[in-house]
Amino acid sequence: MKIIMLGAPGAGKGTQAKKIAEKYHIPHISTGDIFRANIKNGTELGKKAKAFMDQGLLVPDELVVDLVADRLAQVDCADGCVLDGFPRTIPQAEALTKALAGMGQKVDFAINVEVPDENIITRMAGRRACVGCGATYHLKYAPTKTGDICDTCSGELILREDDKPETVKKRLEIYHEQTQPLIDYYTKEGIIKEVDGTQDIDVIFVEIEKILTQ
Ligand code: AP5
Ligand code: MG
Repeated sequence: MKIIMLGAPGAGKGTQAKKIAEKYHIPHISTGDIFRANIKNGTELGKKAKAFMDQGLLVPDELVVDLVADRLAQVDCADGCVLDGFPRTIPQAEALTKALAGMGQKVDFAINVEVPDENIITRMAGRRACVGCGATYHLKYAPTKTGDICDTCSGELILREDDKPETVKKRLEIYHEQTQPLIDYYTKEGIIKEVDGTQDIDVIFVEIEKILTQ
């Protein structure tokens, strides 16, 4: 089962992808998390990606396409995976179709988590990310159990650099320009599934489970 998560920045792709990965025992592959791990480790890829990410811009396709193709070829993806934050442009979607076809596979579900722009900016201001393991929380909607530190690794929680309101506005612009066209792309492929991302996290997940068992 190959699943991709579509939706604006902050729509809840990562939140739902994590739940899908846990329930169906498949890897959760987030290109944003991969870039953030590279930034933290000071790799060449991290240095290149950071310059784009901090401005709310997309990292160029050539830096992301091969990285995902290699990840998909790993043995733990044999039974499926949930891709979060990839593809984000039409060339990335085409590259994904090609890479999967080379392995005799295809995308089974493209889940679009729909949230209006107005909700996104307030939502992002409340998001907190763990500097240690990257886990995501929300001050109001998904608080920690243990106060100001990460439930999983006790790491420090921060507001992501690109979650500041000005950068979120830029990310939304880029989303509408470059990523929203993927909804048409996957509608034509007949695999788009819409969910209302303004509902409670658990209500959305119940809808997603129904989609995946269709
Ligand atoms: P990435 O990390 O993928 O960021 P994004 O797509 O902008 O999405 P977010 O992670 O910000 O949001 P999300 O939808 O995962 O929401 P979340 O579940 O956290 O990418 C970062 C950057 O990396 C990009 O800007 C780009 O530069 C680069 N990049 C990555 N992939 C790339 C690619 N393929 N090509 C080129 N560049 C790439 O939820 C948000 C908050 O809301 C959380 O606090 C959460 O707790 C809360 N929340 C979630 N669901 C709900 C709900 N239902 N109700 C209330 N609150 C909720
Ligand atoms: Mg995310």
